[in-house]
Amino acid sequence: DDDLVVLGIETSCDDTAAAIVRGNGEILSQVVSSQADLLARYGGVAPKMAEEAHSQVIDQVVQDALDKASLTERELSAVAVTIGPGLSLCLRVGVQKARRVAGSFNLPIISVHHMEAHALVARLIEKELQFPFLALLISGGHNLLVLAHHLGHYTQLGTTIDDAIGEAFDKTAKWLGLDMRKSGGPAVEQLAQEGDAESVRFSVGFSFRAIPMKQHKDCNFSYAGLKTQVKLAIASRNIDAKVPLSCASSLDRSSRADIAASFQRVAVLHLEERCERAVEWALKIEPSIKHLVVSGGVASNQYVRSRLDQVVQKYSLQLVCPPPNLCTDNGVMIAWTGIENFRAGRYDSPPPANDPDDFM
Ligand code: KG4
Ligand code: ZN
Repeated sequence: DDDLVVLGIETSCDDTAAAIVRGNGEILSQVVSSQADLLARYGGVAPKMAEEAHSQVIDQVVQDALDKASLTERELSAVAVTIGPGLSLCLRVGVQKARRVAGSFNLPIISVHHMEAHALVARLIEKELQFPFLALLISGGHNLLVLAHHLGHYTQLGTTIDDAIGEAFDKTAKWLGLDMRKSGGPAVEQLAQEGDAESVRFSVGFSFRAIPMKQHKDCNFSYAGLKTQVKLAIASRNIDAKVPLSCASSLDRSSRADIAASFQRVAVLHLEERCERAVEWALKIEPSIKHLVVSGGVASNQYVRSRLDQVVQKYSLQLVCPPPNLCTDNGVMIAWTGIENFRAGRYDSPPPANDPDDFM
């Protein structure tokens, strides 16, 4: 079982990623090609352009993953690939590649759910992490609180009613005029360190309280209101009325840092408040849970980690947060989730070698 060697392919959004992982959890190789230049130029992901970018690099990314692991396709046990959620044009590039490799080398193929992979990669890095556990998955497109009962069985405790927290980080970075060559989140986190988190009072939603949706006694999220508040805060401080709303160039660095820090504080307060309630719900449904997994791109934020660590300590739970390069989109989480599913018998037989694309 430990001798399994699985190739994982991920193309759901703007990163083309591949990795090879062994059944015992050993990461044999990991390659990510990001479309950071495109993102910076266009301020976001355009599906058609992203598809082309994936198509251009996918063969090389998979080849690099094999080379770095000093393996050939013949030594693989199976191919795992993200089938959703994500941009369908982009997903298709990964699925086609996976089926071509699997078809040519007679390998089983494992379909992987991107969000399940964000959660399960925590089991690769923390061997003590058993089902059931609670997971907070925070990325650019998703904001989920999930109770993981066992492999393939999940109860969704909460989701966003509008935007995900990563989207709010990305827009805040854009409106503050920060360097978007990487994604916006890290830029906001860095600038926030210089700012006063109490200086700008964001009043969010209808309630005009500091924490979004505090009056709603559920585990759902909302970040659209906070996003608008950030935009208004920037506009009201813009001394040059001719400067467009979406450009904070006339704000000095310390005002921008104050906005970044105040935004981050409230955005994370919302996570803390929802996690507390979710832990209480989860302990009623599954009293044996011992861990809160926090994963997805935003989980690489150190402030997020330290605040949520305080929440779980109140309940004597343990926080499990993958290292930053396994929180953002990557091939390792796909390969690993492939391994978990393969062991449970959840895979498809190899596609026909002569027509691997016949699923389309
Ligand atoms: O999981 P991910 O790589 O892709 C999606 O599935 O969406 O998450 C990307 C998101 C982006 O919104 C990015 O700004 C955010 O994660 N992110 C961060 C940090 N690093 C990445 N947000 C806040 N702080 C960070 N350090
Ligand atoms: Zn993701």
